[in-house]
Amino acid sequence: MKQVAILISGRGSNMEALCQGSHAPKAGYNVCRVISNRPKAEGLNWASTNGFEGVALDHKQFPTKAAFEAKLHAELITAKADYVCLAGFMRLLSAEFVQAWRGRLLNIHPSLLPSFAGLTPQQKALDAGVRISGCTVHFVSEIMDAGPIIAQTAVPVLSDDNEDTLSDRILKAEHLTYWPALSAVCKGQISWTEGDRARLSGPLDTKLYGCLDF
Ligand code: GAR
Repeated sequence: MKQVAILISGRGSNMEALCQGSHAPKAGYNVCRVISNRPKAEGLNWASTNGFEGVALDHKQFPTKAAFEAKLHAELITAKADYVCLAGFMRLLSAEFVQAWRGRLLNIHPSLLPSFAGLTPQQKALDAGVRISGCTVHFVSEIMDAGPIIAQTAVPVLSDDNEDTLSDRILKAEHLTYWPALSAVCKGQISWTEGDRARLSGPLDTKLYGCLDF
């Protein structure tokens, strides 16, 4: 059973879905820590009232980014984390931190990468007039939102969508996509060992290819 730490900054709905997913038979992972860089994050309350160990690590209390990341790294080692999931964690991590956790650091982004990286991806999808958007779970590399792709789920972009309605539809897809993707990584079915792509080893897991009918 692999140990997983989840990093959040706010609402934490993806963290919640990852925690609930850990209870699934054959999930292959256990959530050992929830860490928030914002002490007042709603997600921290949910974690502690639902039996998951939550820790606030306020980045503003550290003199430098390096000092914050050193403490974060130490906390992850104390928690015996094998993998780290970013779930709405809104701090850019340094190349040093990313390299230390290479292949063991995952993120979810609300677009079909490589389209619409960065901030406000749902609005960017609307502005581009695409008919399909979705979410992507990927390994984190030094370049923002550009690491090897693990899983994607597509959702339609409807003609009367606004940023909120599209975000809600994508968020539902995120909740269905992140934990099976994490589970596949924890079970060694997919990994990032070399190059710029994640490799499947073992049977194809159809949950990594989601096309939802909403
Ligand atoms: C989610 O939509 C997640 O994909 C996004 O922030 C939201 C967090 O919601 N993350 C990013 O945009 C990272 N680039 P949550 O706190 O309810 O999980």
